[in-house]
Amino acid sequence: MAIWAVLPAAGIGRRMGSTIPKQYLTIDGAPLILHALRRLSAVSEIQKIIVVIHPEDNRWAKLQESIVEEFENRIITVMGGAERYQSVLNGLAAMTELADKDDWVLVHDAVRPCVRTSDIENLISKVSLHPVGGLLGSSVDNTLKKVGADLAVIETVDRESYWNALTPQMFRFAQLKESIEAVVASGEQVTDEAAAMEVAGFKPIMIAGSKDNIKITHEADLVLVSQILKNQASDNGSK
Ligand code: C5P
Repeated sequence: MAIWAVLPAAGIGRRMGSTIPKQYLTIDGAPLILHALRRLSAVSEIQKIIVVIHPEDNRWAKLQESIVEEFENRIITVMGGAERYQSVLNGLAAMTELADKDDWVLVHDAVRPCVRTSDIENLISKVSLHPVGGLLGSSVDNTLKKVGADLAVIETVDRESYWNALTPQMFRFAQLKESIEAVVASGEQVTDEAAAMEVAGFKPIMIAGSKDNIKITHEADLVLVSQILKNQASDNGSK
C-alpha cells in the first residue's frame, strides 16, 4: 500500500498581517514551506508529495525550480481553493488516477516546519495498523476554561479529555476524499481532516507528538520557530 503526502500551502496568511504569505517567510535560509517539505521527504516511505498552492502564487515556480534535484520527481503541484479543506480536496482529486482507494495519505500544513521525522514515522507505524486513521496531537498543559461571549468564565473543563490537533493527519485516500466531499456538499466547515472523518462517523486515533511541532499563525511564532529549528539542528531533533 502506497503512502502519499498532501501539503496544503494555498493560504494567504490573513491573521499574520504580512504581505508575504507565511509559508514563504524565510527562517534559517529557507522558506517555511521548504522546511516542511524536507521533513516529509526525509521519510522514505512517502512516495510523492502533492503541494497545493494558491492560484495566484508567484513564488512557488521559482522555488520549485531551485529544488528540482533535491526532490527529484517526488513533487506534484496543484491549485488550491478558498478554504483549507478545499485545497486538501483539490490535492486528493489530483491523485485520483494515481492512488489506490486504500492508500494512505498524510496531510501536513506547510506552516508547520518543525515536525520531527521520528514523529511522522511513529504516526505511520501506529496508524498503518488502525482501521480508520489518525493524527499527531499534543496534550493540553494549561487549565482550560469555558467562557461565554462576554468572556465570563462558565466552568473549568477537564483538560485530560482535550488534545491539540497537529499535523500530519493520516487517512485512507478514498475515505478521506469522500468524507471531505460530503462536508463540502453539506455546507459545513471543518478545519482539519480528522474533523471531516468525524462528521462521516469515523473515530480517528490520536498519536502523541512533540509539542514543538507548532503552526505559524502570528508574527510572534516566527521567533519561536527559529529557536526550535536551531535547537533541533544542535540536538539532531529533526529526526
Ligand atoms: O490558515 P491556517 O493557518 O489554518 O492554514 C494551515 C495551512 O493550510 C497552511 O499551510 C495554509 O497555506 C493552508 N491553506 C490552504 N488553502 C487555504 C487556506 C489555508 O492550503 N485556502
